Amino acid sequence: MSKSSLITGVYGRQVWDSRGRPTVEAEVTLASGAMGRGVAPAGASTGRHEALELRDGGAAFGGFGVNQAVANVNDAIADVLAGADALTPDAVDRLLIERDGTENKSRLGANACIAVSMAAAHAAAAHEGVPLYALLAGGDASVIPLPEIQIFGGGAHAGRRIDIQDLMVVCPGAASFAEALAWTAEIYRVAGTVMAARGARAGVADEGGFWPAFASNEEALETLSQAIETAGYRPLEQVAIAVDIAASEFGADGRYALALEGRQIDRDEMVGLLMAWIDRYPILSLEDPLAEDDAEGFALLMARCGTRMQVVGDDLLVSDGARVRDAAARGLANTVLLKPNQRGTLMEVRQAWEAAQAVGMGGIVSARSGETEDVTIAHLAVGWGVPQFKVGSFSRSERMAKWNEVLRIAEALGPKARFAGGAALRQGGSSDQGGAS
Ligand code: PGA
Ligand code: ZN
Repeated sequence: MSKSSLITGVYGRQVWDSRGRPTVEAEVTLASGAMGRGVAPAGASTGRHEALELRDGGAAFGGFGVNQAVANVNDAIADVLAGADALTPDAVDRLLIERDGTENKSRLGANACIAVSMAAAHAAAAHEGVPLYALLAGGDASVIPLPEIQIFGGGAHAGRRIDIQDLMVVCPGAASFAEALAWTAEIYRVAGTVMAARGARAGVADEGGFWPAFASNEEALETLSQAIETAGYRPLEQVAIAVDIAASEFGADGRYALALEGRQIDRDEMVGLLMAWIDRYPILSLEDPLAEDDAEGFALLMARCGTRMQVVGDDLLVSDGARVRDAAARGLANTVLLKPNQRGTLMEVRQAWEAAQAVGMGGIVSARSGETEDVTIAHLAVGWGVPQFKVGSFSRSERMAKWNEVLRIAEALGPKARFAGGAALRQGGSSDQGGAS
């Protein structure tokens, strides 16, 4: 242990996120003078089993104030981390977990904890004089993730204009991260033109995707399919659709309320609807296709398409190692979404990824719908070797900052960089991979 990597200061302040809501920023300073910073993101369609985001409640800022969470950084957390060695980040995270002492970070707040956990990791990297991804990979970074990029927003991010929350593209045919971004830029542009030609271009949703002025979920899928082809790409082979149904938002107890159509369907009908969409549209990935409490529905869907389709657990798995192991054992999903603030420490989220790898599941590092200029997650994806990366759409700088950061990292890695490409989608979904079997 080098004495100069000991934490001498932890400071919290309130800053503002991409929805104009307060959020927590933390700075961690070491004896060497090295400093790191982290900003907590925030979800809108949060899973019931996520760690708790501490909000002040009351009238100010619609209850979204973070005065208590910021105070926790400056008092309890600054206290407990004083003198800890930033070069042993798991030990730092364990101090946060112990000081909190709850199952779900409800005492300190997952927003306070994750801001500090990220700041401490950045401070360690600054102390070592290396980028964070290099520190996390122990100098062995090489995997550049396949991006999953939103074209249309929906669900809770667009006033529930359509039921589906995210209509995204993935580019299994792209040869590099840079090429995947370039293809997506063309599709995003064409999709905007199509919406404008129909008189349906009405700005963007929370993550920068076009506002979904559609008459049905199917019209959204149809329009995205068209945009892919009009932009000149071969569907499925070069560019495919990934959807985040975020079904916990409109489903519970095995029933699903499709608001646009004004009808309720049961679990079997929901699986049937998803299978029909897979048949009709060039879809390769389904995130939260069933509600977080519908294990039976997930098992049903996985049995029908789990060998040829990526089935991603977000609300279902909430970046939790134990839930990942359980879901793998019961065949509920084949890929885990990794969102740092769902747990509150980087260590716990990395452990969820390790659990996923141990059972042969795929992984996607993901942003939240409420974001900032913080680009830590780009470093997590590369540093942990997670083969996919989801940040929202291809507009608004809180999104673009993260895509651009991966471009810089890929360039810095030079010939060592290995683009995960289309194989990333098959990691979870294919039957011929290694792992638990
Ligand atoms: P959220 O949405 O950040 O609002 O939860 C992102 C997602 O569901 O993947
Ligand atoms: Zn999701």
